[in-house]
Amino acid sequence: MPTLGVNIDHVATVRQARLTNEPDPVWAATLAELGGADGITLHLREDRRHIQERDLQLLGQTVAVKLNLELACSEEVLAIACQTRPHQATLVPERREEVTTEGGLDVRGNPARVTEAVKRLQGAGIVVSLFLDPDPAQIEAGIATGATAVELHTGAYAHASASFAGDEQLQVLRASAQVVRQAGITLHAGHGLTYRNVRPVAEIPEMCELNIGHSIVSRAIMVGLEQAVRDMKRLITL
Ligand code: PXP
Repeated sequence: MPTLGVNIDHVATVRQARLTNEPDPVWAATLAELGGADGITLHLREDRRHIQERDLQLLGQTVAVKLNLELACSEEVLAIACQTRPHQATLVPERREEVTTEGGLDVRGNPARVTEAVKRLQGAGIVVSLFLDPDPAQIEAGIATGATAVELHTGAYAHASASFAGDEQLQVLRASAQVVRQAGITLHAGHGLTYRNVRPVAEIPEMCELNIGHSIVSRAIMVGLEQAVRDMKRLITL
């Protein structure tokens, strides 16, 4: 049964839309914990479009469950991560023009840079996960970096499942999950998961952690965050 990491970036996005102080992602993290979140996930982007350093500092002091920081392999955020020391860091690619993280990390194209980032974070006592496309070649390269976990990018599955054509992509995820498991690496997944499409991913054997943001925060606008988290937690632990 996987644990649930709730991504609170979207709460910060609403705040940044007005450059004000509400809604506060720190409040959101507390409500998510009350709703049963096993982790709080946040992405400190280079352009600071949603989460700010202030959020990371306060969440580092207040979150009682796992704090999972998503970050790019860039010097500035790596230094902040090593200083803040969240429980877990997930390395992701980052492009300024993207709406959200659009693909997995290209470890094959840059093994030395990713390996150096993994070692540096691990040296600070942080568990390191790599956000990878469900592509065996990238996964093999990711395993070689010494990372502890791989988070499979579920975006293609999510996109396909919206038009009831998710089966093929689900097979791709299952096959990649097997490669991860066989290497003895912890299996995570996330991106684009919703109340409608999450069950088959949650049921992949040895799935340890799902990171979900947009769908939970969207439902939270209607029913409140605590309830939205509780609903998702129930679905993935059925
Ligand atoms: N996992 C990673 C690595 C991500 O970058 C994101 C998006 O920030 C998520 C999970 C959550 O994606 P979504 O908001 O689509 O649920």
